[in-house]
Amino acid sequence: MTDAPTTPAPARATRALTVADVSARGSAVLDEVATVVVGMRQPLRLALAAVLAGGHVLFEDVPGLGKTLAARSLATALGLDFRRVQCTPDLLPSDVTGSSVFDPATATFEFRPGPVFAGLLLADEINRTPPKTQSALLEAMAERQVSVDGRTHPLPDPFHVVATSNPVEYEGTYPLPEAQLDRFMVRLAVGYPARDAEVDVLARRLERRQEQASVGRVVDAETLVAMQAGVEAVTVDPDVLAYGVDLAAATRAHRAVEVGASPRGSQALVLVARSLAVLDGRDFVTPEDVKAVAVAALAHRLSLTPQAWASGLAPQAVVQEVLAQVPGPTTARRA
Ligand SMILES: Nc1ncnc2c1ncn2[C@@H]1O[C@H](COP(=O)(O)OP(=O)(O)OP(=O)(O)O)[C@@H](O)[C@H]1O
Ligand SMILES: [Mg+2]
Repeated sequence: MTDAPTTPAPARATRALTVADVSARGSAVLDEVATVVVGMRQPLRLALAAVLAGGHVLFEDVPGLGKTLAARSLATALGLDFRRVQCTPDLLPSDVTGSSVFDPATATFEFRPGPVFAGLLLADEINRTPPKTQSALLEAMAERQVSVDGRTHPLPDPFHVVATSNPVEYEGTYPLPEAQLDRFMVRLAVGYPARDAEVDVLARRLERRQEQASVGRVVDAETLVAMQAGVEAVTVDPDVLAYGVDLAAATRAHRAVEVGASPRGSQALVLVARSLAVLDGRDFVTPEDVKAVAVAALAHRLSLTPQAWASGLAPQAVVQEVLAQVPGPTTARRA
């Protein structure tokens, strides 16, 4: 068995962009995406913030709201080496990770990397594939490597997953358990467009005379890494950190919650809030930044009690309640 070369992970850039540069390039990415995706500015901003924080993004909503379009456009604008897997019921774990293939010429096994070896993987309709394949993907996401036949292959760097899924109520789906949802830094609902926006979607479709709409590249992998380094250089006031921890802790204590947000959750909360501050052109994080990401960063990590589910309470509502209850820091800086 030979060790096939996999995409080498480039060293992390020593270059860090300034806050102003990250903000400018972030806006340019969002503006480019907005040339094809109508509305959705807020979820796309959070998605970019999560990528800048080094995380993976899940778009979850009912069919036909432009999730795939949004994920594909963001991927293209970020200029990362882009692969897509359509998560069908017959997709095997090795279709995602790759597998060892026998080469008769050399009488050895060669590792053929799967689509997960990409800068950005679009995992479309992730809850249509059975748990075994989901967990192969989610394991690769968490560990940033793939183990096949006892050999470990590191994934490229940067490596991000943007996944789409439909809500759990949909038939023929395999809901992701909370333990696996935890691997996504944010879960974003896209929502129905406003009336004018929907008219705009139709008008643009008629104007371009074809289904497919595409965006251009705005940054490349190296620039993205430098943007991430720029975000990493920003510190967070202790008060704001403590506020993030208090919010996560309050989800654990909530009466409707069986298992609340883990420290991975509070970490995601603060890291995405920091990216959001930088996208806004600030080198400090406010409690409002934390509030703005709380639902996206925490709601998908909560397991509610059966009674709460039965009463129709949504995890998003629990996070909103927690936001209303937990006092924010009074001394923190404001934007
Ligand atoms: N906000 C929007 N801006 C531009 N086009 C949109 C928007 N919402 C929907 N569309 C259009 O609607 C169609 C469906 O979009 P898309 O395939 O991305 O939906 P989806 O949310 O991924 O659905 P599914 O859950 O069924 O996969 C596409 O033709 C897309 O161009
Ligand atoms: Mg789709």
